[in-house]
Amino acid sequence: MHSDFWHDRWAEGRIGFHLPESNPLLKRGWSALNAQGEGRVLVPLCGKTLDMLWLREQGHEVLGVELSELACQAFFDEQEVVVEKRERDGFQVRSVDGLDLYCGDFFALPQHCYDSVAWVYDRAALVAFPPEMRKQYVQSLIEKLPSCVSILLITLEFDELQGPPFSVNEAEVRELYGQRFDIEKLFVEQSEGKGGRLETETMYVLKDRACG
Ligand SMILES: C[S@@+](CC[C@H](N)C(=O)[O-])C[C@H]1O[C@@H](n2cnc3c(N)ncnc32)[C@H](O)[C@@H]1O
Repeated sequence: MHSDFWHDRWAEGRIGFHLPESNPLLKRGWSALNAQGEGRVLVPLCGKTLDMLWLREQGHEVLGVELSELACQAFFDEQEVVVEKRERDGFQVRSVDGLDLYCGDFFALPQHCYDSVAWVYDRAALVAFPPEMRKQYVQSLIEKLPSCVSILLITLEFDELQGPPFSVNEAEVRELYGQRFDIEKLFVEQSEGKGGRLETETMYVLKDRACG
């Protein structure tokens, strides 16, 4: 998937994936991670999601990664927070009160950014990629995440091949992550999506097997 696709969507305001409040599923599912102690929450492909603020309110440090400069700036503008940006590792980085927003390509995120990550929150990141890129995305996470990381993952399933979002079923989640993570399905919700199609949203908790 070419980056222009996403830049165009942000420029044209075609961001139907963005929620006007923090995601109720996150609030329901986060406790399953038992997220305590030190460490950051990595929010890949974060857009301008308010979930990052909710995670900060829970006391976590947050690292968001987003391709679109428009989205990164809008996140702070909409909170009426004035923030300086600086260049680091080829990213435009904005930081405020325990929240770092890296603007650039997720695949270029340097290893040191992963070193203090303890949890990952993936809503609409895995499903934003076509099949081959999903493999690369998960491979990146598996190679770079430190041990003992847990992941809260939300997927979508529906009867259509075109995307994004792309339909991702449980078998694929197990195939992609099963080698390293124990996978528990937390809950499943069905709703009417785009064009009246039936969509199934599933939340999984992935726990690093090496952690015991
Ligand atoms: C479906 S949206 C999800 C946004 C957010 N997670 C949410 O729940 O609102 C996917 C986002 O990923 C961003 N994106 C796509 N490819 C990316 C990449 N390679 N690196 C970083 N961000 C990317 C897009 O600009 C878009 O904002």
